[in-house]
Amino acid sequence: MPPPARLPETARRQPAPPGGGGSQKVAGVGDGRRGRGTIAAMTTDTTGAAARDGESRRGGPADSPFVRACRREDGPRTPVWFMRQAGRSLPEYREIRKNVGMLESCRRPELVAEITLQPVRRHRVDAAILFSDIVVPVAAAGVDLDIVPGTGPVVAEPVRTAADVERIRPITRDDVSYVDSAVRLLVAELGDTPLIGFAGAPFTLASYLVEGGPSRTHAKTKALMYGDPELWHALCDRLADVACAFLRVQVDAGVSAVQLFDSWAGALSEADYRRYVLPHSTKVLSGLADAGVPRIHFGVGTAELLGAMGEAGADVVGVDWRTPLDVATRRIGADRAVQGNLDPAVLLAPWPVVEAEVRRILAEGRAAPGHVFNLGHGVLPETDPDVLTRVVALVHEVSARPTE
Ligand code: CP3
Repeated sequence: MPPPARLPETARRQPAPPGGGGSQKVAGVGDGRRGRGTIAAMTTDTTGAAARDGESRRGGPADSPFVRACRREDGPRTPVWFMRQAGRSLPEYREIRKNVGMLESCRRPELVAEITLQPVRRHRVDAAILFSDIVVPVAAAGVDLDIVPGTGPVVAEPVRTAADVERIRPITRDDVSYVDSAVRLLVAELGDTPLIGFAGAPFTLASYLVEGGPSRTHAKTKALMYGDPELWHALCDRLADVACAFLRVQVDAGVSAVQLFDSWAGALSEADYRRYVLPHSTKVLSGLADAGVPRIHFGVGTAELLGAMGEAGADVVGVDWRTPLDVATRRIGADRAVQGNLDPAVLLAPWPVVEAEVRRILAEGRAAPGHVFNLGHGVLPETDPDVLTRVVALVHEVSARPTE
């Protein structure tokens, strides 16, 4: 058995307090923790988790069940984490975000670290995902936007012309130094638990920029794509550079994997996806081929695109609930792992329904060369967090494999 990760151990000793998580000053991880475990301590202690734990550690996060599954290697169990695991389903998140805007909260490293850690402590998931948003690097690139509660990203001046595209400038580490700091705090704090970095893929980012906000039809986006392919490709090329640079900052700071979210790519046919989107997503993912961390590529409603999304350079392809994982694996191929795919709405059903679905997905996931259990999209805000905790325990119990 590999040594248990530090955070879950802490969670055992000190469950998250109701509504807690440090409501006023966000200096530490968890209330009342002292010494080496706190973010405050980590800001002055640069020795790092590996050095402190000494030779008893094996490979750290690179040897975790999550990274092993991404690499299609055997592991002690099927790893599980949830998209949007940090967020409104958690009372401690709602408490800590009370008086802080979404974008502002993404720019405060200690707050980012605390929010990122909340679901790891509570649910004992196998990976943390950095608390941020896909539009954070776009704002850093000079686009005037905000994240409006209950709506999502809203762009002040939607992209219409070549001049609008040219105003999206490349980003450097200095433009997102708060992300670099947050990742470093987290990597030190998480020990063996891997941290996932992420970015939005060019199509999904372009959709927000062209529409000016969330859209059901992506009509303006498609009108630009079909009507002015040159401008479309110029826009996506810039966004690919922004996404790639944003991921590179996270990799350099120590994340163990990256996920490229192309949440809205399912709005396209495969032919259009290949023509208008794939080259740009490929640019992002191939730009990280030398990074040495698994690359996950995810979208919603992408049943027809799964093969193409794998070709973009992913090690793991995210699958929504519409496609069973064994079917998805046939489309994606045996050289890639899969991630998914419980319908987030199932978590609102009675437990026996949830349990049956979890067991079905684990069974179907056995057809894949590697399976990371997740939802088919993000946690819904009205989800009972205790159900998420139960799902983690069930996945671990059902998938436990004997180790030497
Ligand atoms: O736990 C995690 O998964 C990490 C945090 C995360 C957020 N956004 C935090 C967030 C991640 C990975 C994202 C990515 C993101 N942002 C995507 C891709 C993933 C997906 O869900 O498809 C997209 C499309 C966005 C754009 C966006 N930002 C939307 C659609 C919303 C929700 C609007 C709403 O209020 O319902 C946001 C805001 C946002 N990003 C919230 C969170 C926790 C909610 C804001 C809040 O709590 O006030």
